[in-house]
Amino acid sequence: MNFQTIFNQKLPQVEALAPGRVNLLGEHTDYNDGFVLPTAIPQQTVVQIGLSDDGFYHFYSENLDERVDMVEESFRAGEMQEEYARYIFGCIQVLKEVGYTISPINLYVKSSVPLGSGLSSSAALEVATIRGIRQLFNLPINDVEIAQFAQKAEIQYAHVQCGIMDQMASSLADTEHMLFLDTRTLERRVLPLPEGAKIVVIDSGVPRTLTGSGYNQRRTECTQAAQLLGVKALRDITDVSLVETLPEPLQRRARHVVTENNRVLEALQNVETRHVSSLQRFGELMNASHASLRDDYEVSVPALDILVDILQKTPGVFGARLTGAGFGGATVALVAAGEEKNIAEKVLEQYNHAGYTGNVLVGA
Ligand code: GLA
Repeated sequence: MNFQTIFNQKLPQVEALAPGRVNLLGEHTDYNDGFVLPTAIPQQTVVQIGLSDDGFYHFYSENLDERVDMVEESFRAGEMQEEYARYIFGCIQVLKEVGYTISPINLYVKSSVPLGSGLSSSAALEVATIRGIRQLFNLPINDVEIAQFAQKAEIQYAHVQCGIMDQMASSLADTEHMLFLDTRTLERRVLPLPEGAKIVVIDSGVPRTLTGSGYNQRRTECTQAAQLLGVKALRDITDVSLVETLPEPLQRRARHVVTENNRVLEALQNVETRHVSSLQRFGELMNASHASLRDDYEVSVPALDILVDILQKTPGVFGARLTGAGFGGATVALVAAGEEKNIAEKVLEQYNHAGYTGNVLVGA
């Protein structure tokens, strides 16, 4: 299948890509106005777009082999079951809401970003879609605005109260660098990955979906904690002892956010000053992040804990943790450069021996 056969149209007029992301440090901090440190992964989503000449919006997902054909009215009413189409629809709606005219299009999408692994397949789809539409209709929007529109589409049309990390990473990061982002001010810095290290991402085989998880609930708990502490967002708390006045589980949730923000800032400082022990310390901070996500934020699952444990005990691994929202999905590890394939294979063997079905997504 390709664009031509599906839409019976010559060639697409534009093609746009966007990568998935893996977050190295700073989990569940973005919707607390905090700090994050993601990087792009090699897997990408590709959209091909052409103008539709029959008044219908036509979308087709190659991975799912699902086709959606809709006229403007039902399009506006959001009458579609297909989840991938809701993301595309959401992007178009958000652009229309700010005043752009987006006439009916044929949109073909294919992706190598794994679904449900916490590597932001949805952000990759949104960013690729808006990039393609920007090109087709010559819209004067920049890459930060793309991320902002994409986040809005996800919140309003996929009903996930997500932060802006994934969309910013997909729109602005590359695979060779980490993107330090202050999610309150959108101030950002592009930094090299810690010297001497490579990234290994392993899928736990336990799928997760954001909407089906306690993601929105965690977000509400953080808002409550911030209100009780009298601050705009948990980012405004840097002294962790202040959270001790909160009732449970808000105290644990807030402790995670405050310590996680501090971990990102420490990693940033170490990398920027090229501190000799920065690699070691970066790994320790990742390990501490996992413990905090498991015990305080309670978004891990047994499979992720086992996989992280195997990784952390494997020689050559500086640090490892769950990545993304949690409740399943993938782990990220920082390992000695040159050793990534070896380490990934060894870890996978042990993990699968424990009765799971993992999959190496980056570093194989
Ligand atoms: C998901 C959301 C992000 C972020 C992470 C957790 O990926 O889309 O905004 O909150 O979870 O760090």
